This record gives sequence, C-alpha cells and structure tokens, in this order.
Amino acid sequence: MMELLLETKLTKWLGVFMLFKLCLAIFPTIIRKIYFLLITAHRVDIRNFGEWAVVTGCTDGLGKAFANELAKRGLNIILISRNEEKLKNTADKIEEEHRVKTLCIQADFKKRDCYSNIKKELIGRDIGILVNNVGMARTTPGEYSTVDEDFIWNEIDVNCGTTCIMTRILLPLMIPKRKGIIVNISSISAEMGSPSMGIYGPSKCFINMFSSCLRKEVECYNVKVKCMTPGFIKTNMSKLSHSFFEKFPILAKIIFPDAKSYVKSAIESFYEDDLMATGYWGHTLMGLLFIWMPLKLRMHTTYLFVKILNYYSTKQKLQ
Ligand SMILES: NC(=O)c1ccc[n+]([C@@H]2O[C@H](COP(=O)([O-])OP(=O)(O)OC[C@H]3O[C@@H](n4cnc5c(N)ncnc54)[C@H](OP(=O)(O)O)[C@@H]3O)[C@@H](O)[C@H]2O)c1
Repeated sequence: MMELLLETKLTKWLGVFMLFKLCLAIFPTIIRKIYFLLITAHRVDIRNFGEWAVVTGCTDGLGKAFANELAKRGLNIILISRNEEKLKNTADKIEEEHRVKTLCIQADFKKRDCYSNIKKELIGRDIGILVNNVGMARTTPGEYSTVDEDFIWNEIDVNCGTTCIMTRILLPLMIPKRKGIIVNISSISAEMGSPSMGIYGPSKCFINMFSSCLRKEVECYNVKVKCMTPGFIKTNMSKLSHSFFEKFPILAKIIFPDAKSYVKSAIESFYEDDLMATGYWGHTLMGLLFIWMPLKLRMHTTYLFVKILNYYSTKQKLQ
C-alpha cells in the first residue's frame, strides 16, 4: 500500500518536474517569437537575399513546397532534381501560378559527376537562397547488418555530400555580395536517432555539425546559415508513418503537417537569428518533450516508435 502511494506521489512529482522543464524550455522560444513578430517580421523581404533561389530535390514533398512558397514570395527558382518530366511539370506550374522565372537542372545526386553541369548553370546569377533539401531514407526498418552497401554510399552522397558540394558551389557567389542564406534541411532524427533505419539519423547529425561550423565561418560575410530540424511531415519519405497517423488524427494535427503547411511556417524562421529551428510549432513541442532524455533513453524511445510505425504500416498493407 505504502509502496503504491509512494509510486503515485513519485509519478506526480515526475509529471510536475517534466512540466516545469517544458515551461522553462518553451519560455525563451515564446519571447523570441513575440519579438520577431512585433519588431522584425514586417521589415523583411525575402528578395533582399537575391533574385534567385536554388532548391535541391524539388519535384516532391518539402522541396516542391519550398520552391512554390519562395516563388510565391517573388523569387525566381532554380529547380534541381533527377526526373526530367517531373522537373518540367513543377517548373511550368510555378511559372503559371507565380509569374516568376524558373530554370531546371536535371541531376542525380547519387552520381558525383553531376556537379560540373550544375556549377556551369549557376555561375553569374544573383542567387540569394540555397535550400539543401534533397534527402533519402529507408522505407522500411531493418537490421543494419542487412542494409545494401550501395544504399549506404548513396545515402552518404545524397544526404551529406550534396549539401557540402552545393554549399561549396554557392558560397563564392554569395560572399562577394555580402548576402545570402544557406538552408540545410536536417531532421529531428539527428537528436532522436534512427535505430533500425540505417544511417539516416547519423547523416543528419553531420548536417547539424556542418551547419554550426559553416555559420561560424561565414557570419563575418553576412551570409546566413539555417539548419532546419523538422519532425514528421506528410511526404513520400515518411510513408511508414502514414497509417499510424491516420489512426491518431488528433496527434497528426499537432505533429504531422503536410509539406505546404510545414514550409509556410518554416520560411518565417529564416529571418530569426538562431541557427537551428524545427520550423513548426508542433515539432518544437515534440523536441522539447524528448530532448531532456539521456541519449540511451532517446534511442529506446525511437526504436520502439519505429516498431509501432512498422506494425501499423504492415497491418494496413495486409488489409
Ligand atoms: N518527410 C519527413 O517526415 C521529413 C522529416 C524530417 C526531415 N526531412 C528531410 O526533408 C528533406 C525532404 O524530404 P521529403 O520528405 O520531402 O522527401 P521526398 O518526398 O522523398 O522528396 C524527395 C525529393 O528529392 C528528389 N530526389 C531524391 N533522390 C534524388 C537524387 N538522387 N537526385 C536528385 N533528386 C533526388 C526526389 O525527386 P525524384 O522525383 O527524382 O525522386 C524528390 O523530389 C530530406 O532531406 C529529408 O531528410 C523529411
């Protein structure tokens, strides 16, 4: 009886402690947001960075949404992806809807020789924004010992290599103008890990550290670096989670936005000074709930969650 009482009290205090930690963590974020909305937001125009924006991996999901949202705000868009037909369709739609110019560059980022052509096309343009968006991940969980070796190399090239080389190509165009922004799309997996999903989480850890180092180096040239660390977003890449979130629609409303809603919110954080941003309020909340956990506990949680996602996904496939 005494034990049960103790347990209940302990649980209550643990709850109070977590709530306290959450409030402490949320408070500075709220203050920064209010400051941004009142002081900064109305003074910024995204076209101040330059005439053109480059988006990698832009024919689906987040990339497509970024291209559309930036075009909506008046920027000309350079679209880089691997499927020519999808590229053309995306470009035609953007030109028709937003009356801006587009340039399509076909490239498969798994191939390291794709960059010389990209470089040729970009040189001489007034490029203000680079969105290093392209990424790939396993579609189903599995043990690392069974992952195809080529898949591992491809994931390193696409998730890490592309960001490094595209940044290397664009920086010499931004530095002399003393303006520009490099936006690297990372993931909450950099903190939460990705056990049973191969090197996805580790590749995003690389992006976080790369962004931190780069920012230090280029801040003196007035070139900004932003590292976005979103949680779940409804795209092809997150197919494994779709059936789970269909079962829990209220949770989905908070932490599973579609690409368009995510990007609309994420772009606002481009102007904020912080290097890291989830880009979406539900993902910030999600991060704050888990980030206090020791790494080992975070890995257990993610491992278990991936198993749950896989259970719902397999169940739906069998129906
Ligand atoms: N969705 C999420 O829940 C989520 C969460 C956190 C972070 N992220 C990150 O957000 C970024 C975008 O993810 P997403 O969910 O929008 O992915 P997605 O829906 O799978 O779209 C990926 C895009 O990249 C292109 N692409 C893929 N491989 C390519 C290659 N080798 N060469 C050139 N283009 C290639 C695809 O074009 P094709 O038509 O040619 O395939 C497609 O346009 C990624 O960096 C991802 O890690 C996503």
